[in-house]
Amino acid sequence: MEIRFEKREQLKEKPDQKHLGFGKFMTDYMFLMDWDAGQGWHDARIVPYGPIQMDPACVTLHYAQETFEGMKAYRRADGKIQLFRPEMNAKRMINSNKRLCMPEIPVEMFVEAVKAIVKTEQDWVPSEPETSLYIRPFMFATESALGVHMATSYKFMIICTPVGAYYEEGINPVRILVEDELVRAVQGGTGFTKCGGNYAASILGQVRAEEKGFTQVLWLDGVERKYVEEVGTMNIMFKIDGEIYTAPIEGTVLPGVTRDSILHILRDWGYQVHETKLAIEDLMQAAHEGRLEEAFGTGTAAVISPVGELAFKDDAATINQFKIGEVSQKLYNYLTGIQWGKEEDKYGWTVEI
Ligand code: COI
Repeated sequence: MEIRFEKREQLKEKPDQKHLGFGKFMTDYMFLMDWDAGQGWHDARIVPYGPIQMDPACVTLHYAQETFEGMKAYRRADGKIQLFRPEMNAKRMINSNKRLCMPEIPVEMFVEAVKAIVKTEQDWVPSEPETSLYIRPFMFATESALGVHMATSYKFMIICTPVGAYYEEGINPVRILVEDELVRAVQGGTGFTKCGGNYAASILGQVRAEEKGFTQVLWLDGVERKYVEEVGTMNIMFKIDGEIYTAPIEGTVLPGVTRDSILHILRDWGYQVHETKLAIEDLMQAAHEGRLEEAFGTGTAAVISPVGELAFKDDAATINQFKIGEVSQKLYNYLTGIQWGKEEDKYGWTVEI
């Protein structure tokens, strides 16, 4: 792929790596590429980061034909930069786009675009512990027309932001509220895709949870509101009686890259792993009986996020005395060890830039 480069006059001042937060500072450049019916993908370019023009009748602004991905570039101790399983993000975007009737980007093209923008922005990949360059590829319809239909033109873009921990809590446990009224996904819907609409529909639950002092919402299945599915920005796993439980990928749950990696590692470590439906009542009971030993979220942004409290209706349970669990800590150390190049990458998951 040929990528045109447009240099900016002046580079931005880089933020203090010790106070990055999440998604607050955008880098100097962005990647763009256009798709038109008949022409396919064309005009790949890296240009100065800045606003883009959109027609007020743009399909995306009305009908949300939009998908996105989340991935990170890590600075190793030797100064080199690496990505983590980028082809999994590329494949997931293909699956999201199929569901939303959007054009697909071949895996190689997606990865090449990601590598190109990260190479351009290499000075923005932070080196402080626990920091990385968060990469946000996204695609949206650009056609202007108010009829609901598959659009005939799209844009694919990648923006980057140096980040620290997603949650203020960092690796400390978070409080999670189980949502018993609103739902996130149903079979046949878009739950398995990474589309903006899924997140827009989740904000009300998130706002209500925050008002009550919780960090995130745990979504139950959309039909019976009985089985645990996922948390707002991450998949979730439970250690009960020494075994690991997480919701299966069957159409409503996001197939997380971190989820898949953690399940691989846990199986390798000899844990019994169940990708199965788990009823919230059984989970709360296990918590009260002291059998729920650990709970943790997994996600690119959140990495491993221990859950210290689960609240469901008028019931609440503290998990592992609101402390990070042994397995959660071990997983965090090992996974981030691979990502930051401190552990041997025996799975071949990292890709050097
Ligand atoms: C990620 O973990 O990369 C995500 O996309 C979650 C996000 C919505 C912050």
